[in-house]
Amino acid sequence: MVVQHFLTLDDLPPAELLAIVRRAVELKRQPELAQIQARKTLGLIFEKSSTRTRVAFEVAMTQMGGSSLFLSPADSQLGRGEPIEDSARVLSRMVDCVAIRTYEHSKLQCFAENSQIPVINALSDDFHPCQLLADVQTFIEHRGDIGGKRVAWVGDGNNMCQSYINAAAAFDFELTIATPAGFEPSAELVKKHRSRVSLTVDPAAAVKNVDLVVTDVWASMGQEAEQSERESAFAAFQVDAELMSLANPEALFMHCLPAHRGEEVSAELLDGDDSVVWDEAENRMHSQKALLEYLFAQ
Ligand code: CP
Ligand code: NVA
Repeated sequence: MVVQHFLTLDDLPPAELLAIVRRAVELKRQPELAQIQARKTLGLIFEKSSTRTRVAFEVAMTQMGGSSLFLSPADSQLGRGEPIEDSARVLSRMVDCVAIRTYEHSKLQCFAENSQIPVINALSDDFHPCQLLADVQTFIEHRGDIGGKRVAWVGDGNNMCQSYINAAAAFDFELTIATPAGFEPSAELVKKHRSRVSLTVDPAAAVKNVDLVVTDVWASMGQEAEQSERESAFAAFQVDAELMSLANPEALFMHCLPAHRGEEVSAELLDGDDSVVWDEAENRMHSQKALLEYLFAQ
């Protein structure tokens, strides 16, 4: 039996991803249409903190008539060194799907290889595909089709940035990434998508005439010790009203949140009219409902 996982956007064909996003738009308007088979249970294994992703999954399952089970490593045998392979085999026999937030992406892959149930990446050090479903949904709701549009990523070449690279290919947009030297995303990933993705060290050049500007924290979870070093390296990479004024007049601003006002984004921009971050956060729930519907129907 081939199990459909969602570890990166590359796991699903572009047409299916777009269908999930369109379904999310529909479910937001008519939540009562959401349908999963009765009594489905979603396991949530989170080794890092979360507000949006966890709440979105838990509420999504409750509203669709299923249930969820939060497993913190501190309270389960995962935190005491039970092999990932064994945990995957056991959970496959009890729950119907599992969403995992962890550090090494290879841990997710190992779990998935030993799992008889779909595994969803709820964020790894390398990718955050669930967030991209919400971001694309948010763009479509505010501005229509994202295909053919121009997007700028300003900041760290992190998990979010790398999922934007996958999204550029899947949803057919042009992506310019501005990072300080030494903080670029995976060279292999950039090379793979070089027809749609370009790199620069100049934030102003990246945002010129784009339709969407996106940033994220300078130090991701697990990089707390590098905070001050990163604050210096990224000092010229804050997205503020002045930088945003170089984008198209109708350009939107997104941030997956949590945000650090005064670091990667100015308070004025985050809380201003160009920012759609609250819709983006809400859409995590609608898009994760659509994703769960899709995975349970395979
Ligand atoms: N954007 C996001 O994934 O938020 P959480 O860390 O709160 O889940
Ligand atoms: N890049 C951030 C995203 C948080 C949702 C992190 O990994 O901490």
